[in-house]
Amino acid sequence: MADIIEINGGVRLSGTVRISGAKNAALPMMMAALLSAEECIFENVPNLEDVGLTLHLLEHLGASTEYTRDRVSIHVPRLLATEASYSLVKALRASFWVLGPLLARGRAARVALPGGDIIGARPVDLHLAALQQMGAEITTKHGVVYATAVNGLRPARVELRFPSVGATHQIMMAASLVPGTSEILGAAREPEVVALAAMLNDMGAEIEGAGTDHIVIRGRSELGGVRIKLIGDRIEAGTYLLAAATTQGQVRVEGVAPDHLGAFLPVLSEMGAQVEVGSDWVSATFAHRPKALQAVTAPFPGLATDLQAPLVAALCFAEGESKIDETVFEGRFAHVAELARMGAQLTVHDRAIVINGVSRLSAAPVEAHDIRAGAAIILAALGAEGISHIHEIQHLRRGYETLERKLQGLGARVGARQTEVDDFLFSGC
Ligand code: UD1
Repeated sequence: MADIIEINGGVRLSGTVRISGAKNAALPMMMAALLSAEECIFENVPNLEDVGLTLHLLEHLGASTEYTRDRVSIHVPRLLATEASYSLVKALRASFWVLGPLLARGRAARVALPGGDIIGARPVDLHLAALQQMGAEITTKHGVVYATAVNGLRPARVELRFPSVGATHQIMMAASLVPGTSEILGAAREPEVVALAAMLNDMGAEIEGAGTDHIVIRGRSELGGVRIKLIGDRIEAGTYLLAAATTQGQVRVEGVAPDHLGAFLPVLSEMGAQVEVGSDWVSATFAHRPKALQAVTAPFPGLATDLQAPLVAALCFAEGESKIDETVFEGRFAHVAELARMGAQLTVHDRAIVINGVSRLSAAPVEAHDIRAGAAIILAALGAEGISHIHEIQHLRRGYETLERKLQGLGARVGARQTEVDDFLFSGC
């Protein structure tokens, strides 16, 4: 197995990338298959570690699964377990989202608490409070959430103090299998929420308002199967578009709805890109170094926090000083120290990253600390002079399907290989 990615940077990228199905839509939608005794079939599923982990979790809960090419079938005739262990939730924190579906269908669930991670504390209080409002009895001990709903869940009107994507998924899934009308006020508006609502509607629920902050869910006592195609991955698309910025190139992404990129497209234009859009494609051309700017991450349709790190990488090459405020996750700065190792001039002040653009970065051995921090250093390495070695690439495998092949298609000199002793000689301790 290859365990580093090597990039010989400084090549102007040019061409078209086919974007994969959205990982963050795939995970909740596959978990929603727990709500039905009938088969659910998904198309355009990306071949990623996180998808494999979700299938593993669902199999443990009683699912028969089949994964061929980009098609996944999940069939849960009966729940065989109602528990998601710490090892599963630790490997994939979104596993916690099975709590709602398990409670709705099995009336009991035991799911390990995810805990914090490198990007922040990531509490789940909103998930738990919502399910309690729906009648669940919840206790937490030894790092595990024990939840029961002996008489079944009941509909509720839930108000979220922050538009949490995961909590919105969780409530929509549970409420779809609870007869009666539930509501979410202050709901997340992300395209993945809209995609999950479309699936639940196809299964027989009646959901209105997905994509707004007020979602109304009319649940059913039974839900049917479904065949559904995943939306394109807006974060993967944004990452490749930013490769045009770090290499002063031209990249066209296909298979993604431009609307799903929200405030990111105006940001690209402000950086000086010539941006063009079609029904399912976007292209960005950078004839010069990017322009510096100020931006703030925010829930959709604001600038996606998942694109913050890749955007910071691009602004390392900008002319002038940029500032990005990270308002969604308090600790999403793992890329900063790695970019600095490549010669980037940037500092963190509270929750803001200030970047003084430089005309060139120099290749270095660097680490991918999480999926998007990894994407950021890939982008920096593409624009840097010399050969960079990127370590800890398992994080990239969680979110970017056939990364090297897609970059090679744009002309990048990139490959994956096993580490050798030499790869560590200059990387320090
Ligand atoms: C999802 C995405 C992740 C993205 C994030 C925000 C998946 C698999 N993950 O994560 O890539 O970065 O949305 O767009 O789709 N919060 C609470 N209490 C809660 C829940 C959340 O305080 O009960 C806070 C979090 O700590 C964070 C903020 O709300 O500061 C946003 O989190 P949330 O939208 O829930 O993110 P996830 O659903 O975990």
